[in-house]
Amino acid sequence: MRILLVGSGGREHALAWKLKQSKLCTSLICAPGNAGISEIVPCRPVSVEDIDGLVQLAQDEAIDFVVVGPEIPLSLGIVDRLKKIGIPAFGPSAAAARLESSKGFTKDLCRKYNIPTAAYQRFTDKSDAFAFLDKMGAPIVIKADGLAAGKGVVVALTLDEARAAVEDMLSGNAFGASGASIVIEEFMEGEEISYFALTDGVNILPLATAQDHKRVGDGDTGPNTGGMGAYSPARLMTPALDQIVINEILKPTILGMAADGHPFQGVLYAGLMVKDGRPRLVEYNARFGDPECQTLMLRLTSDLVELLYACALGVLNTVEPPKWSDHPSLCVVMAAEGYPGVYRKNTVIRGLDKAAAIADVQVFHAGTVKGNDGQILAVGGRVLGVCATGPDVTSARERAYKAVDQIDWPDGFCRRDIAWRAI
Ligand code: AMP
Ligand code: GLY
Repeated sequence: MRILLVGSGGREHALAWKLKQSKLCTSLICAPGNAGISEIVPCRPVSVEDIDGLVQLAQDEAIDFVVVGPEIPLSLGIVDRLKKIGIPAFGPSAAAARLESSKGFTKDLCRKYNIPTAAYQRFTDKSDAFAFLDKMGAPIVIKADGLAAGKGVVVALTLDEARAAVEDMLSGNAFGASGASIVIEEFMEGEEISYFALTDGVNILPLATAQDHKRVGDGDTGPNTGGMGAYSPARLMTPALDQIVINEILKPTILGMAADGHPFQGVLYAGLMVKDGRPRLVEYNARFGDPECQTLMLRLTSDLVELLYACALGVLNTVEPPKWSDHPSLCVVMAAEGYPGVYRKNTVIRGLDKAAAIADVQVFHAGTVKGNDGQILAVGGRVLGVCATGPDVTSARERAYKAVDQIDWPDGFCRRDIAWRAI
């Protein structure tokens, strides 16, 4: 099978690494990729927003199967376009990807199908929103409706903060059109889990769980980010909780999406808040999480192409459930100093070979390019995913930080406490 992988993050580097191991994969290319991906598969310079370009690339390269990593091409309808010309693709249609691209859409679905989540209201008008804030009080959560690269959520501890967030979003200053409509919702207490399941619109095949670290600083302090590290499986997960998640959250979602005329096909990533053994939905994403995907790929022992292809063809019921290593995995994200705010670009990273030489360590690239002289340059906010496995979380963590300490990148930083809850 000739496969095209779309994306350029740590998630895609981990997917490329795993797809390449498949006995079904005869050829793999990636667009646009990054410096790390280009070391294992050929990359083509087509951006994830360029749907025409990606469709053309799939045709030119006689691609049999496209795997879409990030949310942007999904929300722009890449899977619809490819299916129309007979190229199977892994990922939801644009209509189904609204589970991620519109927070309001998902909240309305939860209300309609009785899926446990935070109480909420949607607003486009500032004075209505302010009146609601006064009624609810703080803490309270303000969310831009549309895509905002993981930054469109403000957990406001005071009403002043909440009003400022509403003002920022509705004025269009913060997230442009993505913030023209907002959701205001109840603050939920508890511990978060990232839960991943494949679904072909009818069948559900649970994958695995991970725990992300959203805040930029140690001890879960500072602003939200796209994720500063993760480990898998999440410590709170039990067979009993798994059953509740499937029955109360995933099944009604899959049935509801199909009943409403836009079945969801792809990987459903449920962000869950768990308190006293009861899960509630924080949000859905229509793709693998990043860095969570890196920790999942390190533990998956089944053939990834077989799973994703069956999902895209709507025959998930014909494949064996995925198998996972008992050894937990852990990922430390190295980001450019200043992230999630303003950061420098084109700084040089050294020592990657020394890090990768440590046993049971994999370094996945996110925001990197190769300079003319072959040097690895940082060009993104989140730049590297330094991952390791081990017999327990503590040893996986020791290995990952040992690898981090081999990396010579004065402009980078990372959290030093990934998996603190589990350890
Ligand atoms: P989201 O992009 O919806 O996942 O939100 C980003 C982060 O904000 C989540 O991972 C949570 O840590 C936090 N968050 C979002 N919604 C809520 C909520 N209703 N209550 C508490 N924390 C929330
Ligand atoms: N790590 C969170 C996300 O991928 O959205």
